[in-house]
Amino acid sequence: MGLLENKVVFITGGGRGQGRSHAIRCAKEGADIALVDIGTAGKVEAPAYITATSEDLAETKALVEAEDRRAVTFEADVRDYDSLVAAADATVAELGGIDCVVANAGISDTFLPIWDLPIENWQTMIDINLNGVFYTCKATVPHVRARGEGGAYVLVSSVAAIKSYGWLSHYSAAKFGVRGLAIAMAKELGPEYIRCNSLHPGAINTDMTDAMSYLSGTPKETLLQQFRDAQLLGRNIEVRDSSAAVAWLLSDEARFVTGHELIVDAGESKK
Ligand SMILES: NC(=O)c1ccc[n+]([C@@H]2O[C@H](COP(=O)([O-])OP(=O)(O)OC[C@H]3O[C@@H](n4cnc5c(N)ncnc54)[C@H](O)[C@@H]3O)[C@@H](O)[C@H]2O)c1
Repeated sequence: MGLLENKVVFITGGGRGQGRSHAIRCAKEGADIALVDIGTAGKVEAPAYITATSEDLAETKALVEAEDRRAVTFEADVRDYDSLVAAADATVAELGGIDCVVANAGISDTFLPIWDLPIENWQTMIDINLNGVFYTCKATVPHVRARGEGGAYVLVSSVAAIKSYGWLSHYSAAKFGVRGLAIAMAKELGPEYIRCNSLHPGAINTDMTDAMSYLSGTPKETLLQQFRDAQLLGRNIEVRDSSAAVAWLLSDEARFVTGHELIVDAGESKK
């Protein structure tokens, strides 16, 4: 028996990176997966963050199906609440319900002090990394509640919401917002045995690292070295490390864990 046998897990930002890894790990644990990513549904312009393509999303679907689990995909921009409602409704129609949600879609940006940070970059960051998480929760909560069997949310935050990053204030502010939202939801949904936790990964080598490299003009290897130097453990964290935390938080193994901030940061927040 897997940790998530016959559960339905709804994952945003599932086209690539950590979201794809979470999808595959949850499928290995026996879950069917609903995958949301932006594809051709929108464009992130300020900052010019290159997002996952329709092909990326299709590839994640194929990787889930290779685990003998069902997968459905939706091209939706998490800034568009109505399209998330449509994706959640269609997930229930196609997979029978929603038990678990991983609000993972997000972007990063280059490093700027607040006096140089363009208003549009602040706005886009809050729209995607905070409002998008709220919309994901609001669109799915009615379905998780309707199951009547409890459920679990993982809201993907960051170590940036434990220690806060200067020169990335909009990212840190959005991720602190996610951390607060997770605790508020844990309170509201606790009586129905729906758990809600935030996940705080340290820096992980994904397309987000590439984005930070091209947006800031810093070579990727320099960034990866900076990540290692900032940690107690001097090796780069991998997507499987955050996926292990997601699978555990969603599973019955964590049945009394709610309102918790799970940090997977190789000790960065303690250095
Ligand atoms: N990589 C890191 O160092 C790191 C560290 C801590 C937390 N995180 C968080 O983990 C999550 C996943 O990031 P990742 O590292 O896999 O990077 P990534 O860029 O590979 O994945 C982010 C995904 O979100 C999608 N996305 C972005 N904007 C969207 C929108 N408006 N609508 C729908 N989908 C959208 C992208 O297309 C992409 O598939 C993010 O929330 C990120 O902030 C990342």
